[in-house]
Amino acid sequence: MYVCLCKGVTDNQIKDAIAGGACSMRDLRNDLDVGTQCGKCARDCKSLLNESLTAQ
Ligand code: FES
Repeated sequence: MYVCLCKGVTDNQIKDAIAGGACSMRDLRNDLDVGTQCGKCARDCKSLLNESLTAQ
């Protein structure tokens, strides 16, 4: 499922990035460019971050 439509980034790509060490929105932005255009995906990215980080 696409989370960031502007950059064509899926939830799996975001989860992979988090598994690879990304632990903040800044990391995700640097790795995948998410949230750099309209910003609408930022909230969903943050939820994925929180979900994944609390599940570890
Ligand atoms: Fe991610 Fe627009 S949907 S920047």
